[in-house]
Amino acid sequence: MSDEALGLDEAYSVKTPEDNKRLYAKWAATYESSFVDAKQYRYPKAIAQVFNDVVPSVNRVLDIGTGTGLTGMYLSHLRTGLVIDGMDISPQMLAQAKLKVRADNALVYRALYERDLTREVRNENAPYEALFSSGTFTHGHLGPECLRNLLPLLADGGWLVVGVNNEHFESKGFAGELESLVALGAIDTPEIMRIDVYEPGSVHYGDQARVIITRRQAPIT
Ligand SMILES: C[S@@+](CC[C@H](N)C(=O)[O-])C[C@H]1O[C@@H](n2cnc3c(N)ncnc32)[C@H](O)[C@@H]1O
Repeated sequence: MSDEALGLDEAYSVKTPEDNKRLYAKWAATYESSFVDAKQYRYPKAIAQVFNDVVPSVNRVLDIGTGTGLTGMYLSHLRTGLVIDGMDISPQMLAQAKLKVRADNALVYRALYERDLTREVRNENAPYEALFSSGTFTHGHLGPECLRNLLPLLADGGWLVVGVNNEHFESKGFAGELESLVALGAIDTPEIMRIDVYEPGSVHYGDQARVIITRRQAPIT
């Protein structure tokens, strides 16, 4: 399959973390030209905008499923001086993110970590004051159970701004998992927003994502 042929069908057909590693190893170099630009994918920009609208002043944040670094880049335009780290399973996608620069030409990301977020992860820079994500909670990528892997990375009271593919949200039972986390006292009752994933004019215009907005409370015991 040529890189040009890679797209939503392939992204939605992966099943395991290893499938994801293989797909994004092939796709990293052309992900922005063949998909983001060609399909007018606005999800990273939209998540950065939601984050900027809802999260008060914070200093250190983590981009979950960083990809080529577009969400962090847009956020750095809105919140200059924000310290941004990233995590992703694909070293090839992270290599692209490492090149992203801010308006003042400084690097967008302070540190980038190769991590499988289907497992519990820790890192030396946690806890963060906020986590954000675009495009990574989707078919065959991260499911609702992975939210529990993220919470230990967040400070008490820290913010989660997590985009979830609309159909994935319904079919995988995100609402139920969020209710369980609220019942455990792990998170506040979330606000769920809807955003357009593609610009008007895109062949995919009309596809929407939910955005989970909540804050971490006590650790799960
Ligand atoms: C569609 S891309 C989204 C990238 C970026 N956030 C954006 O919106 O352009 C999905 C990303 O999820 C990452 N990913 C998939 N499975 C993962 C896992 N188990 N752990 C961490 N990252 C994963 C992929 O490597 C890829 O970079």
